[in-house]
Amino acid sequence: MILLDGKKLSTEIKAEIAAEVTRLKAAGHKTPHLAAILVGNSGASESYVAGKIKSCAEVGFKSSLFRFEDSVSEKELLDKIKAVNNDADIDGFIVQLPLPKHINVQKVTETILPSKDVDGFHPINVGRLMQNIPCYLPATPFGIMQMIERYKIETAGKHCVVLGRSNIVGLPMSMLMARNTYPGNCTVTLCHSKTKNIQEITTTADIIIAAIGQPKFVTKEMVKEGAVVIDVGITRVPSDKTKSGYKITGDVDFENVSSKCSYISPVPGGVGLMTIVGLLMNTLKAARKEIQF
Ligand code: GUN
Repeated sequence: MILLDGKKLSTEIKAEIAAEVTRLKAAGHKTPHLAAILVGNSGASESYVAGKIKSCAEVGFKSSLFRFEDSVSEKELLDKIKAVNNDADIDGFIVQLPLPKHINVQKVTETILPSKDVDGFHPINVGRLMQNIPCYLPATPFGIMQMIERYKIETAGKHCVVLGRSNIVGLPMSMLMARNTYPGNCTVTLCHSKTKNIQEITTTADIIIAAIGQPKFVTKEMVKEGAVVIDVGITRVPSDKTKSGYKITGDVDFENVSSKCSYISPVPGGVGLMTIVGLLMNTLKAARKEIQF
């Protein structure tokens, strides 16, 4: 079994990004700049955004954080998004999700300029992804594609089972794995909450990508010997053994599944760190104006 080491890989890729930033600056380019808009103060969102801001500093990017109370009106938030769209110094930005219920997420997503949408959530970027046109890939699927590529995992002709159909991970991941490229060329099955006989499907999988947010959902009975298992889960499960009072738990029962796998990603230390790398890579593309809209 080979561990898909997100810590090692993300450190390597961040060093590559940092070297590129140094080159850009030496050539007279401005410093790449990522902004984040954070509404409310949910513990998970706070910690994801803090991770993104810290990583910007590590690679030499400038970052900005704009905070709003939970009570912010939709108009005020949309006005801020429009202001950031028009701020020439900011290359790309994200609005951290989830948002309070009174705010329409679709309106928020569609107000972000596609050329600054480094989360890849705008329908223009999603449509481009489906048609294999240059676009910002959503950060988690982008990070997973990097992981597969850098570990040289074979994908052509393999059966890839994606668990979960979220707009952020499952749905785009299934499209990417089906594309006629590497990584890709898989026969993809997308499973969700209404799928019947899920174990019958997962036991035929060469690659399982678990993104349902149910701790330890994937058990050893569900995995074929030699499968590649990529765990996207990051649920906070209460624990009296940690200082924080919770333990970050993946969608895979790692302890019992790992010995059957050819490759497996751990939680923490796996896909979560690669998500940040995906976001940084998108921001670098935005700073270089690599994608034409
Ligand atoms: N919430 C959970 N994952 C993400 C992400 O990738 N981007 C944003 N903006 N919010 C999230």
